[in-house]
Amino acid sequence: MNTGEEAYVRADPLLGMGGKRVVLAVCGGIAAYKAVEVCRRLVDAGAHVVPLMTDAATRFVGEVTLSSLASEPVRRDLFDPSDPLAHTRLAKAADVVAVCPATARIISSMATGRADDLVSATLLATRAPVVLFPAMHEEMWCHPATQENVARLRSWGIEIVGPAEGRLAGGDAGVGRLVEPEEVVFAIARTVRGRPWKSKTVIVTAGGTREPIDPVRVITNRSSGKQGHALAEAAAVLGAETILVTTSDAAVPPGLAEVVHVETAADMQQAVMSRAERADVIVMAAAVADFRPARPADRKLKKEERPTAIELEPTYDFLVDLGNNRREGQIVVGFAAETENLLANAKAKMVSKGLDLIVANDVSKPGVGFGHDTNEVTILCRDGADRRVSLRSKREVAVAVMEEIERLMGDGMGASDSSGGSGT
Ligand code: CTP
Repeated sequence: MNTGEEAYVRADPLLGMGGKRVVLAVCGGIAAYKAVEVCRRLVDAGAHVVPLMTDAATRFVGEVTLSSLASEPVRRDLFDPSDPLAHTRLAKAADVVAVCPATARIISSMATGRADDLVSATLLATRAPVVLFPAMHEEMWCHPATQENVARLRSWGIEIVGPAEGRLAGGDAGVGRLVEPEEVVFAIARTVRGRPWKSKTVIVTAGGTREPIDPVRVITNRSSGKQGHALAEAAAVLGAETILVTTSDAAVPPGLAEVVHVETAADMQQAVMSRAERADVIVMAAAVADFRPARPADRKLKKEERPTAIELEPTYDFLVDLGNNRREGQIVVGFAAETENLLANAKAKMVSKGLDLIVANDVSKPGVGFGHDTNEVTILCRDGADRRVSLRSKREVAVAVMEEIERLMGDGMGASDSSGGSGT
């Protein structure tokens, strides 16, 4: 059994699950084996996991397996003489109740208000948010009975994530697959956080652009995109509709964001500008090239040709456009990667580009910026409220940046005044 104490110490700040009580109800379907991985990930994220199993679930995974990984032993008896009111006690103490996998039977039980086992009784008794992760064969999922039950549960505010399309038990394929454990944990975290940004759209750019010399060679920079991806995850966990415009191939947890892959500064400009109007927040974490080859060759340059110089032309700095022409209420955030005069250079960029915030990092310092998992930044704000964030994980830095954006939202500051602000 994992008491969660050790995990609490290293709880992932971005998911915000530290010390949260998650009742994880596992029902009887083949996807129950994935609930084991979900349980482990929740505990790793710092949650206190209270596992419940239906009798049918124990036919698919061992009670001992789940008890060993969770924060408490598995409970499955509604009439346990040593704990006769477990369902109300667990229901009251929960921060969230997650059902993974949610079978057609438990969905039907919930929709009709039945309470004939510990899982269904806890679901009926709780006032905590409930999130279901359905998994079943496509025919069962598409049956009008299940669809009507699901619609009913949704109308009561119950969140239903998935099912996904893909391989199903018995070699079949279709809609009915449990979403991946990473997405389950992410959705539980988002539910626990209460989606404070649910009406917001956030665009985040990430990675270094790649400017072609010829079809096989590029000019690029050392940006890995890790900070931008962490920022997108931080926005999504707050419930924002998130659009990640990235040059990085790094995997993004499914269901987290609309991901737009781009290569060049011009591609990134097109991807961002075409979506900017509907964004409430734009975070330009990407390292956009300032110059590109003026005339990229349309065939591979052969070494016999001995090219001696590449003529460069400037790219367009579209952050200047975004900052100075934003719509009322929009918040625009830039990044400044510097190797000298960090704060003075960053402040000058914030003013000239008309930004609300700029995140300054000195990339010449060890462990800071490009390619590392850690970063050390100063967040400069137009209202003068500068915040220094000492060396820590890029996920923690992402949380700090989102806190500052949230503070500006609270002040109603985003951009109605684009004159440069008092902090400059
Ligand atoms: N940026 C942009 N388009 C460009 C260049 C930069 O949108 N063509 C954005 C970056 O995404 C970043 C901010 O502008 O948010 C600052 O980028 P940075 O490279 O630090 O500064 P530059 O303005 O390019 O100035 P310099 O290279 O002289 O430091």
